[in-house]
Amino acid sequence: MGKKGASVRPRTELSDLLIIHAVELGTCRALGGGGMPLDEERGPRLGPDLGCAGVIEDGAIAVRDGVIVDIGPTEEVLSREPRWQAEDRAGSASSVTEVFDATGKTVVPGFVDAHTHLVYAGSRHNEHVMRLSGAKYLEILEAGGGILATLEATRNASFDELLQLALGRLDIMLLHGTTTLEAKSGYGLDIDTELKQLRVARAACDEHPIDIVSTFMGAHAVPPEFKDDPEGYIDFMIAEVLPKVAGEELAEFCDVFCEEGVFSVEQSRRMLVAGMEHGLHPKLHADEIYPIGGAELAGELGAVSADHLAAASRAGMESMAQAGVTAVLLPGTMFTLMSEKYADAREMINLGVPVALATDYNPGTSPVMSMQFVITLACLQMGMTPQEALCAATANAAYAVGRGGRAGVLKIGAAADFVVCDVPSVDALPFSVGVNPVTDVFVGGVQVVTDRMLSY
Ligand code: NIG
Ligand code: FE
Repeated sequence: MGKKGASVRPRTELSDLLIIHAVELGTCRALGGGGMPLDEERGPRLGPDLGCAGVIEDGAIAVRDGVIVDIGPTEEVLSREPRWQAEDRAGSASSVTEVFDATGKTVVPGFVDAHTHLVYAGSRHNEHVMRLSGAKYLEILEAGGGILATLEATRNASFDELLQLALGRLDIMLLHGTTTLEAKSGYGLDIDTELKQLRVARAACDEHPIDIVSTFMGAHAVPPEFKDDPEGYIDFMIAEVLPKVAGEELAEFCDVFCEEGVFSVEQSRRMLVAGMEHGLHPKLHADEIYPIGGAELAGELGAVSADHLAAASRAGMESMAQAGVTAVLLPGTMFTLMSEKYADAREMINLGVPVALATDYNPGTSPVMSMQFVITLACLQMGMTPQEALCAATANAAYAVGRGGRAGVLKIGAAADFVVCDVPSVDALPFSVGVNPVTDVFVGGVQVVTDRMLSY
């Protein structure tokens, strides 16, 4: 972590990598009073601070050993860079520093996709067709479709099949600038398949440049074996599955689908408290369709995040603000479900709720893999500003997955995960629709996407 003023003096060691002349760098660094960047990360951005992405014009980043060692206007960073001083003196450049000229492009932190259902098999395009004729999400689930359709395909798929599917999806997400991603189980709903999904996520994390954070979501739906017995199913999850997940350290978080017709507030509380007793931090799918009190429960438990929230009550939002629960908003789901009601991002920001964004990538309600498209929806459908949406998709999203201050931010001491976009400003990021503006992606200072092609 950089000490205050540390970057003002010339550095003694060469950088491995220099990004120079970005037309804008959207750092998403934490700000103190008066908009001054802070060296210490203080928590997610709240209220008006969310709307300031800490933009540096004609920006540069210096990287050494995968970590950002300097950041600022290009001229200043170069003046502190030993390679360039040596060049001045000797008239020849060092060959050890790789230089990436980002002239005309905007550089932002790698996106943090804080809510996905990455690991599954099968396709549910038939449900999309049914929805076009007016079928509703919960009706499809009650009729044995929805999550339960994916359940069957995922139970039947082998570990390797699931791994290959997950790796293919991660490649697409990386090409769209995601460098950290949360992945949930919840398409197994039995011991073997829940463990299989989480082990696949771990193997995918080992093989792929994207950093994957795992969440156990055994309480995603009631499986056919426990039809009409959600209490018995929660008992089973708590007694049989949770100890195995925790014992193998397969997840950091525990999530439940707290929704009318799925799991009640009481059942959700029971599951999440048991998860906490096993060291898993609570998260909720809360108040997506009906305001049944999921946001209030998130506040009561001090959950890390409550997600969806399109139907959250004002009292629920206040309880989240009070407890510092991050709201992970998922406009891609509302878009796919052709919903008229998106989450009230503005009200949450005004109330001081930390607001983050994610794709909710899953086979039923959100085929969205691009965080940049989520930023577009946040602006066009929820009235967020481009800089609010960027900070919500990076710095704040990191807090929703336990990576606050380490991912989703460009500052000295942070991992060198960043994305080069072919747009002339941070404010232009939401206005590419139907095209991917991401041209280059760096993870830990290594270029993993080059000119829109995978290069890892
Ligand atoms: O976040 N809402 C519940 N779970 C997922 C949907 C999963 C599915 O339909 O397969 C979601 O939207
Ligand atoms: Fe979800």
